[in-house]
Amino acid sequence: MDQISIIQPDDWHLHLRDNEALATTVPAAARGFGRGIVMPNLSPPVTTVAAAKAYRERILANLPVGVSWEPLMVLYLTDNTSVDEIRRAAECGFIHGCKYYPAGATTNSDSGVTDLANINPVLETMQEVGMVLQLHGEVTDCAIDIFDREAVFIERHLQRIVDDFPQLKMVFEHITTSQGVQFVTSAPENVAATITPQHLLYNRNDMLVGGIKPHLFCLPVLKRNTHQQSLIEAATSGNKKFFLGTDSAPHSKNDKESSCGCAGCFSHPAAIELYTEVFDQAGALDKLEAFASKNGADFYQLPYNKTSITIRRKAWNIPMSLPFTDSEIVPLGAGNTVNWKFEQ
Ligand code: DOR
Ligand code: ZN
Repeated sequence: MDQISIIQPDDWHLHLRDNEALATTVPAAARGFGRGIVMPNLSPPVTTVAAAKAYRERILANLPVGVSWEPLMVLYLTDNTSVDEIRRAAECGFIHGCKYYPAGATTNSDSGVTDLANINPVLETMQEVGMVLQLHGEVTDCAIDIFDREAVFIERHLQRIVDDFPQLKMVFEHITTSQGVQFVTSAPENVAATITPQHLLYNRNDMLVGGIKPHLFCLPVLKRNTHQQSLIEAATSGNKKFFLGTDSAPHSKNDKESSCGCAGCFSHPAAIELYTEVFDQAGALDKLEAFASKNGADFYQLPYNKTSITIRRKAWNIPMSLPFTDSEIVPLGAGNTVNWKFEQ
């Protein structure tokens, strides 16, 4: 097959940052995609409906003329999130989820939740109003090895949340392990997961063998190749619980190539092509549309996009770097050849 046409895809997990960064990140997010779930880990985080509305307007102001793309906004949960704010979010029409970050787990998560027990009333209300809970599923206990943090989160917390809130819709974000795949596969219908391109394309050897590759460092961290294999099987299975979420997370080249490099891969410049490559290599191009364009919309109870996109078999090189605010940024796969090309 030398070309594939699918319903326009959506990205169910991404980061845009704010202010000057939006001039780069918004057009990149809109490249090929119809909508995107915009993560709220700004500094300070987006914790109120009013802040989400203002952020949404700054985002839309950076959308190129003639491009239609819809930012789907998210509230950042803290120990102090009120039940009233959740109700306002459910009514406003532009907020589609609330994000749980364990305090200290990742970029700008300092204001995150210190103990899941603190937000039981909030989860109760989210369940009642049908608001989606998006989970960064890692424990932060420093006694737990970084490669085990997702699996331990399932044992210590996720199972309990699923049991205690049987109607709460939740997305286990950017899953990285076979335990994550197994949990979501056997969980009830209200539990789904996003999968990133980097966790499908790479494993920890790619990041560490022959020298550290800071541009492959993200959180949850890449795992061993057996986990990568489970993720590929889940994504390409057609199972409606798994859908596309790039976790495209822009950081400047300097911030990544540092003695304490930031976590995050800026995947948007080639996101749709990188996913296509994974599905092609797995012999599952016929499942790409479900993963990229249908499963997420079904889960969030939104209509499919009305247009289609075509991706052609055509080799091109991902740029080594791109301009970003007053510096530059290195996209995921920089310098590599991709064998598929989406043309606008
Ligand atoms: O690698 C990551 N980068 N993981 C996250 O959870 C946050 C993200 C970011 O915002 O940079
Ligand atoms: Zn993220």
